[in-house]
Amino acid sequence: VRIDVVFGAVAAPASEFAGRVVAVIDVLRASTSIAAALANGARAVVPLESSDAVVMRAKAFERADVLLAGERKTKPIPGFDLGNSPREFTRPVVEGKTVLLTTTNGTPAIVNTPGARDVVIASYVNYTAVLAMLRAALRGGADITIVCAGRDRLFALEDAGCAGRFVYNVTKRLGDVALNDAAQACALIDRKYGDQLMRLFEASEHGRLLCESGFAEDLEECAAIDSYPVIPLYQDRQITKLGPERER
Ligand code: MLT
Repeated sequence: VRIDVVFGAVAAPASEFAGRVVAVIDVLRASTSIAAALANGARAVVPLESSDAVVMRAKAFERADVLLAGERKTKPIPGFDLGNSPREFTRPVVEGKTVLLTTTNGTPAIVNTPGARDVVIASYVNYTAVLAMLRAALRGGADITIVCAGRDRLFALEDAGCAGRFVYNVTKRLGDVALNDAAQACALIDRKYGDQLMRLFEASEHGRLLCESGFAEDLEECAAIDSYPVIPLYQDRQITKLGPERER
């Protein structure tokens, strides 16, 4: 079995996905917002690649049943109900609703996972829940690909650190797991920062940009390990949480 890490939303070849369990990470902030929405009772999150696609898809719903959400250059999209700050996805706002979400890197990474066996959305806020799923998958003989959605579809330090934490802990006590070079590099980044996630975020370009754009509090939210302990699965073009209502 093996774990590969790939960087950038749409860069990886299809062979990285076919038959594999894929974890998509966009710590700042799409993965965190998705976990928050589902933990707070959203019916589903639908990841879409453009704001036009969100507007089109909304037409299939009663207006009261959907929320239009997303960002461009970290800012909320004009006319939408919500941006991409995880602090917006509170229970009173999202409970029972379908969230139509478009973000710069996160949602393209999720939808570009052709042929994957399972696609799970991972971050620090649902770390332990997803870790258990990935460990079980590896024990069952599945190969894993971790997609770091990144920034401008390239490398992002915070996604690499989170991926490294998964690599380190998934492989602990399991012999014979092959890692690609990116997976090994991510594990080193995780070891460098350890639990000092705010240091990791503040060192990252996207973390600094979010602070400059007035979203400093989002960093604390995204660093709160296991605060939203859900397993978000992307299937049939929507993300729902694995749970009693959706046993697999
Ligand atoms: C993205 O998808 O690029 C991010 O989630 C951007 C952000 O809202 O911080």
